[in-house]
Amino acid sequence: MSDSLLRRKVIETEGRGHQLVRTLSWPHLVALGVGAIVGTGILTLIGVGADKAGPAVILSFAVAGIICACAALAYAEMATMIPASGSAYTYSYVVIGELIAWIVGWSLILEYSLVVSAVAVGWSGYAAPLLQSWAGMPMALMQGPELGGIVNLPAIAIIALVAGMLLYGTRESATVNAILVLVKIAALAVFVAVALPAFDAANLEPFSPYGFAKHMGPDGVERGVMAAAAIIFFAFYGFDAIATAAEETKNPDRDLKIGIVGSMIACVAIYIAVAVAAVGAVAYGRFANSPEPLALILRELGQPLAAHYLAISAVIALPTVILAFFYGQSRIFFTMARDGLLPEGLAKLSGRGTPVRITIFTALVVAVLAGFIPLGELAALANAGTLAAFTAVSLCMLIMRRRAPDAPRTFRAPMPWVIGIVAMLGCVYLFFSLPVNTQIWFCVWNAAGLAVYFLYARKRALAAAAN
Ligand code: ALA
Repeated sequence: MSDSLLRRKVIETEGRGHQLVRTLSWPHLVALGVGAIVGTGILTLIGVGADKAGPAVILSFAVAGIICACAALAYAEMATMIPASGSAYTYSYVVIGELIAWIVGWSLILEYSLVVSAVAVGWSGYAAPLLQSWAGMPMALMQGPELGGIVNLPAIAIIALVAGMLLYGTRESATVNAILVLVKIAALAVFVAVALPAFDAANLEPFSPYGFAKHMGPDGVERGVMAAAAIIFFAFYGFDAIATAAEETKNPDRDLKIGIVGSMIACVAIYIAVAVAAVGAVAYGRFANSPEPLALILRELGQPLAAHYLAISAVIALPTVILAFFYGQSRIFFTMARDGLLPEGLAKLSGRGTPVRITIFTALVVAVLAGFIPLGELAALANAGTLAAFTAVSLCMLIMRRRAPDAPRTFRAPMPWVIGIVAMLGCVYLFFSLPVNTQIWFCVWNAAGLAVYFLYARKRALAAAAN
């Protein structure tokens, strides 16, 4: 039994009749990366982070960014070593074994699903005021029950729209995505250009009112620089969505490397600039927990036009994030189904090379979640799944450096032992800095996953391997 749990996938047996079409090259991947990374994290969760850390949310961005950058380097190395669909799940299957791969794959399903839901809710936060003033739509139909509404219909509608784009075909969607990425970057550039000149050092006093480590405040909210970093971490990932596109990449060695490292560097630079501009421009308490903090800051600075421009840009461009994670989600399902771990019918491709059934099934589930669950909870649980996957990828990189030090790698992470260990320990520390409720839900999700594995998936994977 233990042999099968540790059974490792041999990458040459990839395929078995289901191959994705190679249509993407590196500009698509950088666009996919920046498109997936810059989103609700910087546009909305910066307000949640400010509530938890005060002006020291800048430090939270730095901590989460460093940990995520280390994980990105490990990802880039593994992605160029194993350029196959499935990212962390596939690396774990090849390097560690089936049981860990299952846990990672199951965690990735949680991550991708909840990111789609969370970003749809974040999108709705910027869209709702516009829909209310332009179309007279009642707020009760644009907010979940936790804010006193009935259902978040805009969040559901945007998920349906993006699902339609994916069903239309990968390349078309990636091209639309590239244009929208430019809209998003321009909006953040305008924000920094308007907010930075209003920088006032007095807004940074006191810099760290809640200290560094996570602790429970008297109001029952977990606060501190690390508690904020554990949420802000959401803002930095997305490059892993690039790695899931490996099998559809024309020249994976070169393209994945440029895609992952390039988009990560760009995003860290943009975020630090936005965070410094935001915290310096107004007192953090003014925008803490706002559903549209960057627009609010611009209005506070007496720039309603810029605020309007930013809100409209967010509404136009945030769907790129939903697109990228939706895409990643369907590919994880596809790969796990192809390996026999999930029902094979799910891996059936349409004439356009899109896994139709998975896309529709995912859309239904994430739409229900987005309609009723609050943003902060969705983001925290998405982070838990991501942190588990990043820990596994960093471990895979270190194992392969020992097991096969001379195997070809077109990208080698610098100082792999430092990078790998910082990424692993950092991800574990961030996990324990998440709200306790989130940690519990993550364990419940994986307990359910293990039940599925032992009752269903394991036997099917054995049968698939025997064929
Ligand atoms: N990094 C992505 C975002 O911030 C998930 O929306």
